[in-house]
Amino acid sequence: MLPVAVVISGRGSNMEAIVRAARRTGADEPGGSHYQVVRVIADRDSAGGLAKATALGIPTAVVPVKQFPDRAAFDRALAAEIRASGAQLIALAGFMRILSPEFVQQFEGRLLNIHPSLLPKYKGLDTHARALDAKDSHHGASVHYVTAELDGGPVIMQGRLRLRPGDTPDAVSARVHALEHIIYPHVCSLIAAGRVQCRNGVVYFDDEPLATPLLEENDAAA
Ligand code: GRF
Repeated sequence: MLPVAVVISGRGSNMEAIVRAARRTGADEPGGSHYQVVRVIADRDSAGGLAKATALGIPTAVVPVKQFPDRAAFDRALAAEIRASGAQLIALAGFMRILSPEFVQQFEGRLLNIHPSLLPKYKGLDTHARALDAKDSHHGASVHYVTAELDGGPVIMQGRLRLRPGDTPDAVSARVHALEHIIYPHVCSLIAAGRVQCRNGVVYFDDEPLATPLLEENDAAA
């Protein structure tokens, strides 16, 4: 079982999806999950996901960002907490901090993030409003390896949906979240099964370089 740490700042719905998917499918079933969430770490004690993790029986830790003099000190404390957990894969899930290149380097190839857009489109914030303003036909979410470039690491899998007439950022956010809850656990499973790897900044799927991200399309997502 691959030990996974999930790092959050907010409500933690992706964290919950990652935990629940691993429990739903045993490693011995076809397509089953070979990972286990060993710790949920938040950068603030107000993160709603902490209570969810506790209810799920997952050990939690808080590395309170406000108590550190600078980013380097916070990043060192976060790295120490991750190491103490024994995690071999780290899933950032709604984590609202930019990590230093030093931090990223330590965990390179083992650090994932989920971003609510079809990267490389719409790095940064307000992605749903930006996709609607641009009158895009499609929008979605991307799971990617983290590199020093914000939202710039190699993309493993995308969930894509069609934008509808009259869509609002909130309505789109709900549908994107539903897709996120499918693709993030799926990527964790593929990595745990050894089917997805990152070598020298390139994603490999079943030992072949991935030319385009794996795709999950779901127009029916609620
Ligand atoms: C998700 O939309 C994710 O793409 C972004 O932050 C949000 C986290 O949501 N990085 P939750 O805390 O997992 O519910």
